[in-house]
Amino acid sequence: MQPVALRTARLVLDLPVEGDVARVAEYCTDPLFEAYLTTPWPYTEAHARGFLTEYVPGSWRSATELTWAIRSASGEPLMGVIGLRLPTREIGYWLGAEHRGSAYMTEALLAVCEWAFAELPGTETVTWRANAGNLASAMVARAAGFRSTTTPETTVPGRDGADLDGWSGERGATPDPGAYESWVPLLGGAV
Ligand SMILES: CC(C)(COP(=O)(O)OP(=O)(O)OC[C@H]1O[C@@H](n2cnc3c(N)ncnc32)[C@H](O)[C@@H]1OP(=O)(O)O)[C@@H](O)C(=O)NCCC(=O)NCCS
Repeated sequence: MQPVALRTARLVLDLPVEGDVARVAEYCTDPLFEAYLTTPWPYTEAHARGFLTEYVPGSWRSATELTWAIRSASGEPLMGVIGLRLPTREIGYWLGAEHRGSAYMTEALLAVCEWAFAELPGTETVTWRANAGNLASAMVARAAGFRSTTTPETTVPGRDGADLDGWSGERGATPDPGAYESWVPLLGGAV
Protein backbone atom coordinates (compact mmCIF):
# COMPACT_ATOMS: atom_id res chain seq x y z
CA MET A 1 0.00 0.00 0.00
CA GLN A 2 1.25 3.51 -0.83
CA PRO A 3 1.60 5.92 2.13
CA VAL A 4 -1.27 8.39 2.38
CA ALA A 5 -1.00 11.93 3.78
CA LEU A 6 -3.87 13.43 5.77
CA ARG A 7 -4.59 17.04 6.73
CA THR A 8 -6.59 18.47 9.61
CA ALA A 9 -7.21 22.04 10.72
CA ARG A 10 -3.85 22.21 12.56
CA LEU A 11 -1.92 19.12 11.49
CA VAL A 12 -0.33 17.25 8.64
CA LEU A 13 -0.09 13.47 9.02
CA ASP A 14 2.49 12.05 6.66
CA LEU A 15 5.22 9.46 6.37
CA PRO A 16 7.76 9.36 9.22
CA VAL A 17 11.21 9.52 7.57
CA GLU A 18 14.86 9.11 8.43
CA GLY A 19 15.14 12.84 9.11
CA ASP A 20 12.90 12.23 12.15
CA VAL A 21 15.45 9.95 13.87
CA ALA A 22 16.64 12.45 16.48
CA ARG A 23 13.10 13.47 17.49
CA VAL A 24 11.82 9.90 17.69
CA ALA A 25 14.87 8.85 19.71
CA GLU A 26 14.41 11.78 22.08
CA TYR A 27 10.65 11.36 22.56
CA CYS A 28 10.78 7.59 23.03
CA THR A 29 13.05 7.92 26.06
CA ASP A 30 10.11 9.36 28.03
CA PRO A 31 9.52 7.22 31.18
CA LEU A 32 5.81 7.08 30.25
CA PHE A 33 6.83 4.96 27.25
CA GLU A 34 8.50 2.44 29.54
CA ALA A 35 5.25 2.14 31.48
CA TYR A 36 2.66 2.30 28.71
CA LEU A 37 4.19 1.23 25.38
CA THR A 38 6.03 -1.81 24.05
CA THR A 39 8.67 0.29 22.26
CA PRO A 40 12.20 -0.92 23.13
CA TRP A 41 13.55 0.19 26.50
CA PRO A 42 16.08 1.72 26.92
CA TYR A 43 15.43 3.37 23.55
CA THR A 44 18.37 4.34 21.35
CA GLU A 45 18.91 6.21 18.09
CA ALA A 46 19.50 2.82 16.41
CA HIS A 47 15.95 1.80 17.40
CA ALA A 48 14.60 5.02 15.90
CA ARG A 49 16.58 4.49 12.68
CA GLY A 50 15.32 0.91 12.31
CA PHE A 51 11.76 2.04 12.98
CA LEU A 52 11.92 4.85 10.41
CA THR A 53 13.93 3.24 7.62
CA GLU A 54 12.68 -0.37 7.86
CA TYR A 55 9.62 -0.91 10.02
CA VAL A 56 7.49 2.03 8.88
CA PRO A 57 8.01 1.74 5.09
CA GLY A 58 7.92 -2.07 5.29
CA SER A 59 4.63 -2.17 7.13
CA TRP A 60 3.04 0.34 4.71
CA ARG A 61 4.21 -1.88 1.84
CA SER A 62 2.79 -5.03 3.43
CA ALA A 63 -0.28 -3.12 4.71
CA THR A 64 0.23 -4.56 8.19
CA GLU A 65 0.57 -1.22 10.00
CA LEU A 66 -0.07 2.26 8.64
CA THR A 67 2.07 4.77 10.53
CA TRP A 68 1.87 8.55 10.27
CA ALA A 69 4.11 11.30 11.60
CA ILE A 70 2.14 14.07 13.29
CA ARG A 71 3.46 17.49 12.21
CA SER A 72 2.19 21.04 12.41
CA ALA A 73 2.83 21.55 8.69
CA SER A 74 4.38 19.72 5.79
CA GLY A 75 8.11 19.29 6.41
CA GLU A 76 7.92 20.48 10.03
CA PRO A 77 9.54 18.41 12.78
CA LEU A 78 7.67 15.37 13.99
CA MET A 79 5.60 15.92 17.17
CA GLY A 80 4.31 12.36 17.56
CA VAL A 81 3.18 9.24 15.80
CA ILE A 82 -0.14 7.51 15.17
CA GLY A 83 -0.48 4.05 13.64
CA LEU A 84 -3.27 1.72 12.58
CA ARG A 85 -2.53 -2.01 12.74
CA LEU A 86 -4.17 -4.25 10.17
CA PRO A 87 -6.22 -6.33 9.97
CA THR A 88 -7.36 -5.61 13.57
CA ARG A 89 -7.64 -1.84 12.96
CA GLU A 90 -6.12 -1.28 16.38
CA ILE A 91 -4.91 2.28 16.81
CA GLY A 92 -1.77 3.27 18.70
CA TYR A 93 -0.34 6.74 19.35
CA TRP A 94 2.13 8.89 21.24
CA LEU A 95 3.17 12.53 21.40
CA GLY A 96 6.49 14.00 22.47
CA ALA A 97 6.04 15.41 25.98
CA GLU A 98 6.32 19.06 24.90
CA HIS A 99 3.43 18.63 22.43
CA ARG A 100 0.85 17.30 24.87
CA GLY A 101 -2.05 19.21 26.31
CA SER A 102 -3.26 20.79 23.05
CA ALA A 103 -5.65 18.03 21.91
CA TYR A 104 -3.44 17.30 18.89
CA MET A 105 -3.88 13.57 19.37
CA THR A 106 -7.66 13.77 19.39
CA GLU A 107 -7.47 15.71 16.11
CA ALA A 108 -5.08 13.14 14.58
CA LEU A 109 -7.16 10.19 15.79
CA LEU A 110 -10.36 11.64 14.32
CA ALA A 111 -8.59 12.14 10.98
CA VAL A 112 -7.24 8.59 10.85
CA CYS A 113 -10.65 7.14 11.78
CA GLU A 114 -12.43 9.28 9.19
CA TRP A 115 -9.94 8.22 6.51
CA ALA A 116 -10.14 4.51 7.46
CA PHE A 117 -13.94 4.42 7.40
CA ALA A 118 -14.05 6.21 4.06
CA GLU A 119 -11.00 4.82 2.24
CA LEU A 120 -9.83 1.58 3.80
CA PRO A 121 -12.04 -1.24 2.54
CA GLY A 122 -13.46 -3.51 5.22
CA THR A 123 -13.17 -0.99 8.07
CA GLU A 124 -16.25 -1.30 10.27
CA THR A 125 -14.66 -0.55 13.62
CA VAL A 126 -11.41 0.97 14.82
CA THR A 127 -10.20 -0.50 18.10
CA TRP A 128 -8.08 0.89 20.94
CA ARG A 129 -6.27 -0.70 23.86
CA ALA A 130 -4.11 0.75 26.60
CA ASN A 131 -2.58 -0.33 29.87
CA ALA A 132 -5.11 0.03 32.69
CA GLY A 133 -4.59 3.45 34.23
CA ASN A 134 -3.45 5.27 31.08
CA LEU A 135 -5.90 8.11 31.64
CA ALA A 136 -4.51 10.45 28.98
CA SER A 137 -4.82 7.80 26.28
CA ALA A 138 -8.34 6.88 27.38
CA MET A 139 -9.40 10.54 27.39
CA VAL A 140 -8.17 10.89 23.82
CA ALA A 141 -10.12 7.78 22.77
CA ARG A 142 -13.23 9.07 24.55
CA ALA A 143 -12.88 12.50 22.94
CA ALA A 144 -12.63 10.84 19.51
CA GLY A 145 -15.94 9.03 20.00
CA PHE A 146 -14.73 5.61 21.11
CA ARG A 147 -16.91 3.48 23.39
CA SER A 148 -15.20 1.64 26.25
CA THR A 149 -15.39 -2.13 25.82
CA THR A 150 -13.26 -2.80 28.89
CA THR A 151 -14.02 -5.88 30.98
CA PRO A 152 -12.10 -7.38 33.92
CA GLU A 153 -10.55 -9.79 31.39
CA THR A 154 -9.15 -7.07 29.07
CA THR A 155 -5.39 -7.35 28.67
CA VAL A 156 -2.58 -5.69 26.73
CA PRO A 157 0.75 -7.28 25.83
CA GLY A 158 3.64 -6.15 27.99
CA ARG A 159 7.16 -5.57 26.69
CA ASP A 160 8.23 -9.07 27.79
CA GLY A 161 5.15 -10.69 26.20
CA ALA A 162 3.22 -11.10 29.48
CA ASP A 163 -0.45 -10.07 29.54
CA LEU A 164 -1.04 -6.92 31.59
CA ASP A 165 -4.33 -5.45 32.80
CA GLY A 166 -5.78 -3.41 30.00
CA TRP A 167 -8.51 -1.04 28.90
CA SER A 168 -10.17 -1.31 25.50
CA GLY A 169 -12.52 0.62 23.28
CA GLU A 170 -13.88 0.83 19.78
CA ARG A 171 -15.79 3.12 17.45
CA GLY A 172 -17.68 2.74 14.21
CA ALA A 173 -18.16 5.22 11.41
CA THR A 174 -21.37 6.58 12.91
CA PRO A 175 -21.08 8.32 16.27
CA ASP A 176 -22.56 6.24 19.09
CA PRO A 177 -24.64 8.48 21.40
CA GLY A 178 -23.94 6.22 24.41
CA ALA A 179 -20.17 6.18 23.93
CA TYR A 180 -19.29 8.91 26.42
CA GLU A 181 -21.25 7.27 29.26
CA SER A 182 -19.44 3.99 28.70
CA TRP A 183 -16.24 5.56 30.13
CA VAL A 184 -17.76 6.58 33.47
CA PRO A 185 -16.59 3.41 35.31
CA LEU A 186 -12.98 4.12 34.24
CA LEU A 187 -12.79 7.90 34.06
CA GLY A 188 -15.71 9.12 36.15
CA GLY A 189 -18.13 11.67 34.78
CA ALA A 190 -15.72 14.60 34.41
CA VAL A 191 -15.75 16.28 31.01
C1 LIG B 1 -1.74 9.65 25.21
C2 LIG B 1 -1.20 11.00 24.75
C3 LIG B 1 -0.88 10.96 23.28
C4 LIG B 1 -2.25 12.06 25.01
O1 LIG B 1 -1.70 13.31 24.62
P1 LIG B 1 -2.61 14.62 24.56
O2 LIG B 1 -3.73 14.47 23.63
O3 LIG B 1 -1.77 15.81 24.37
O4 LIG B 1 -3.20 14.53 25.92
P2 LIG B 1 -3.43 15.68 26.97
O5 LIG B 1 -2.16 15.92 27.71
O6 LIG B 1 -4.11 16.81 26.30
O7 LIG B 1 -4.42 14.89 27.86
C5 LIG B 1 -5.62 14.34 27.33
C6 LIG B 1 -6.58 14.34 28.47
O8 LIG B 1 -6.06 13.51 29.52
C7 LIG B 1 -5.91 14.27 30.72
N1 LIG B 1 -4.71 13.76 31.37
C8 LIG B 1 -3.47 13.73 30.87
N2 LIG B 1 -2.63 13.13 31.76
C9 LIG B 1 -3.39 12.80 32.82
C10 LIG B 1 -3.14 12.17 34.07
N3 LIG B 1 -1.91 11.75 34.40
N4 LIG B 1 -4.16 12.01 34.95
C11 LIG B 1 -5.39 12.43 34.61
N5 LIG B 1 -5.71 12.99 33.45
C12 LIG B 1 -4.72 13.19 32.58
C13 LIG B 1 -5.82 15.71 30.25
O9 LIG B 1 -6.30 16.59 31.27
C14 LIG B 1 -6.76 15.72 29.05
O10 LIG B 1 -8.10 15.80 29.45
P3 LIG B 1 -9.18 16.55 28.53
O11 LIG B 1 -9.24 15.80 27.23
O12 LIG B 1 -10.43 16.43 29.35
O13 LIG B 1 -8.65 17.93 28.39
C15 LIG B 1 0.07 11.38 25.52
O14 LIG B 1 -0.23 11.45 26.88
C16 LIG B 1 1.22 10.40 25.32
O15 LIG B 1 1.93 10.45 24.33
N6 LIG B 1 1.43 9.51 26.30
C17 LIG B 1 2.54 8.55 26.26
C18 LIG B 1 2.32 7.45 25.22
C19 LIG B 1 1.02 6.72 25.44
O16 LIG B 1 0.64 6.40 26.55
N7 LIG B 1 0.34 6.45 24.33
C20 LIG B 1 -0.91 5.74 24.33
C21 LIG B 1 -0.68 4.29 24.39
S1 LIG B 1 -2.26 3.42 24.30
